Amino acid sequence: MHIFVTGGAGYIGSICSESLIDHGHTVTIFDNLTEGHRAALDPRAKFVQGDLNLRDDIFPALAAAKPDAVMHFAANALVGESMTNPSKYYRNNVGGGINLLDAMIEAGVKKFIFSSTCATYGVPEKIPMDERLPQKPINPYGHSKLIFEQILQWYDKIHGLVHTNLRYFNAAGASVRFGEDHRIETHLIPNVLKVALGQKEKVEIYGDKYATPDGTCVRDYIHILDLAEAHMLALGRTTSASYNLGSGEGFSVRQVIDIARKVSGAAIPVIVQPPRVGDPPRLVASSHKITSELGWRPKHPRLQPIIESAWAWHKAHPHGYGD
Ligand SMILES: NC(=O)c1ccc[n+]([C@@H]2O[C@H](COP(=O)([O-])OP(=O)(O)OC[C@H]3O[C@@H](n4cnc5c(N)ncnc54)[C@H](O)[C@@H]3O)[C@@H](O)[C@H]2O)c1
Repeated sequence: MHIFVTGGAGYIGSICSESLIDHGHTVTIFDNLTEGHRAALDPRAKFVQGDLNLRDDIFPALAAAKPDAVMHFAANALVGESMTNPSKYYRNNVGGGINLLDAMIEAGVKKFIFSSTCATYGVPEKIPMDERLPQKPINPYGHSKLIFEQILQWYDKIHGLVHTNLRYFNAAGASVRFGEDHRIETHLIPNVLKVALGQKEKVEIYGDKYATPDGTCVRDYIHILDLAEAHMLALGRTTSASYNLGSGEGFSVRQVIDIARKVSGAAIPVIVQPPRVGDPPRLVASSHKITSELGWRPKHPRLQPIIESAWAWHKAHPHGYGD
């Protein structure tokens, strides 16, 4: 298939593009490079530099590509920033996304895979989290993604747009070639590995008095290659659906740091900071639905190999993509 990938110069989009091409698909990447990196573009993909907020960029790009499906990774994704600058999140994640959908309808493209997030649920009422939980986001980032999921329902009813919402938990790890290099890094594993590389003094642990076994927050880490696999399985869907996408197992912040110490051989000092407002103690996915309906099973469910893949990439790219 020919897949049009928005945000393909970013962390997840670059590795999903690579996996798609490795599996015989053709890829066109559309990215404005505000957050992504030119060096993260798979050289086998066609690249169009453009901004989703500009209809004059996205309409001709999509019409020229005439893809079979669109995978939409492009977004702003910093929870903290969304709490100080909500406008940026609604304009880019909702407004930019609408331009993309309109361009698809005009070009007659009816298959869409959306990078949604567990942040659409807010603080979950139960763990593990399945798709029937109420979606009550607690920040504009999560809300922007929920609004877009709702918009997609109407584009399906009205235009027949078959969409799959993949609500990711924490994407982690790397392929051999591409890895995680956010311009502002808020994710735990790359920050821990920066300390292991001697580029940061200490890892900040936000709160150690949560009702979890060691008092630190528990999160679900999914290997980026397993996440890419779920996208390829979603291409086969003929009706719309939503799936949580995590490995189904939770690891605390301290457990992640301990494994990173083992993998890197570095001491990795920590400093405990006050808890962040609105950080749920535990976020762990139920992967039952995606397993039973799409046959998805994580090939890399253990955290140590996930961290090993990230460590290998960070050691080979100590300054990320270098831009
Ligand atoms: N990283 C995670 O663990 C995680 C978890 C849940 C959901 N997600 C979602 O997955 C997607 C990808 O996340 P990521 O970590 O790879 O982020 P990223 O910032 O590395 O990648 C996003 C890419 O989109 C591009 N982009 C942003 N706005 C654009 C626009 N208006 N026009 C064109 N390109 C634009 C950026 O330049 C960047 O290359 C996002 O939608 C994010 O909300 C990520």
